[in-house]
Formats: sequence, structure tokens, C-alpha cells
Amino acid sequence: MPVSIKQLHPLFAAEVDGVDLARPIDEATHRALDDAINRYSVIVFHGQKLDDDQLLALGRRFGSLAPPRKLRSGQRLKYAEVADISNVNMQNELRRRDDHRRLDALGNQLWHSDASFRPVSGALSMLHALIIPPTGGDTEFADLRAAYDALDDEMKTTVDPLSAVHTIFHSRGQLGHADYTEAERQALPDVRHPMVRVHPGSKRRTLYLGSHASHIAGWPMPEGRLLIRDLMEHATERRFVFTHKWAVGDLVVWDNRCTLHRGRRYDDANQRRELRRVTTQDLETINDNPEVLAALVALEAVAG
Ligand SMILES: [Fe+2]
Repeated sequence: MPVSIKQLHPLFAAEVDGVDLARPIDEATHRALDDAINRYSVIVFHGQKLDDDQLLALGRRFGSLAPPRKLRSGQRLKYAEVADISNVNMQNELRRRDDHRRLDALGNQLWHSDASFRPVSGALSMLHALIIPPTGGDTEFADLRAAYDALDDEMKTTVDPLSAVHTIFHSRGQLGHADYTEAERQALPDVRHPMVRVHPGSKRRTLYLGSHASHIAGWPMPEGRLLIRDLMEHATERRFVFTHKWAVGDLVVWDNRCTLHRGRRYDDANQRRELRRVTTQDLETINDNPEVLAALVALEAVAG
């Protein structure tokens, strides 16, 4: 069955049919999916059934995978690279209201780009739905290439040369969740990323920001934070946003290099929600960014 593509939003996002992602992906299909990702940024598959091994294999077909942050609650799943996007604890029960992992995960309801707080940030995230609550829990996506294009020339000139400082503790701190140890903080130091990048697959310029972006390197703190807020407000105007309503078996792939996303609230005290995610590393953009490369080399030197 040939791959068929239907655009879901005037600017981006498409539904893809005719691919069983649980099976090995041949060259022609890989090319078609790669083209679809580069063009639409978010691609939605329905009726998929992947176990963790198959999700891992799918991710590796598109790049090298980075494990998500190590959290103090421990790892419920078999593979470190498969992120447990759920409201379930190690005992397979719904997390309590004051559960540290729950409070941390609430930060995913702020607009963000996966792993932007790391020296090597996220490229493609692939999120597969296993259990979905009857209402709520949608995921929204914002198109950062269209948002960049819509800036006026003066703003483009202002933003083009800037870099933002990203840290996970900024996004969590915005919600008043600051309960992290010194060791947890030291494991994830601040990183800098350009605020405008060239998307490697399409060569289009894109904004790059999100809730982990704390301030602008070299600018006074309040001035940088105000500009980041203005740009976030612009980039997440409804005209740039696509909403995905999940069904069991959906698998959504999005490009963190040129989109933001956020989860939406649901009744997580009473309804189970389980998804699994893998995320490839953005090893292409980093090569255009000597500053980040230098930071990475320094980090590796510290890690020995
Ligand atoms: Fe995310």
C-alpha cells in the first residue's frame, strides 16, 4: 500500500496512511516519511501497535536516541531510551498528587521543545498512545518556521544573532516546582542555543525557544525575558497551532527543531494515561553551532 498524506492544518501537520511502523521501514518509505517530516513538521499515524522494542527500532531508524532525564523515582520501562509519558508510578498505580515525578511532568504542559535544555537537543520525537483518558490530554503543536516568517523585518534583524540560555530548572521554576537537589542541578547545567536556526531538512529559518529558554545571553535578564515572552506569545497564536486529540494506537512524530508542543490537562488523579516516546538527537544543527560544540566538549571533559 503506497504512503498517502493529508494535510491537517493550513500551515503544517499531516496525517500519514499506508505505513505499519511496527515493521522494518524500507528505503523508499523512509524517504517519504523524511520528506513529510521536513515539510509538515508534525505527522500523525493512526492504528499502530508497537511494543517498546519496535518503538526503539523505529527511533533508531531516524537517528541516535538520547535517554530522557534520569528521575529519582526510577525507571519503570525496560529501556532507558524509551520515555515513560504516563501518570503511573513504579507500583503501576496512579501517581499521588504530591508525587515528585508528577510535579516535574506538569512542566510538559508549558510550550516547549524536547531536550532544548541539553547541549545536544532533540530532533524528532515519536510518541505512541497506549491508554488515553476519555477527555482532555490533547497535545498542541506550534509551527516555529511559520512564526519566524511572520515576524516583521525589524524583529528578524533583532532576533537573528541572539542566543538563549536554556535550563530545565527555568521551566519547572515557572510553575513553582524547585525541589531539585544540588546534584540534580549540576547534572544539567545551563546551555546556549541560537534563537534562530536554519532547519536542516528544509533550509527554512525557524525560531527556537520554549519554556526552558530562561533569558538571552548578553542581555539584561528582564529585557531578555520580556523578548522571549513576546516571541512565545507570537509563536503560539492560534493561527500557528495544531491540536492533536489522541486515540489508542496513534503515533505522532514531530520535529523539535521547528515546533513547540504542550500537553493539555486531564483528570490525572483518576484517569490513566500511558504513552511511550523516543527522541532522536539533533546532531545536524549542532554542527553549525561552534559555541554549543565547545560546551559539549567541556562537559565531556568534566564527565571524564
Ligand atoms: Fe515534550
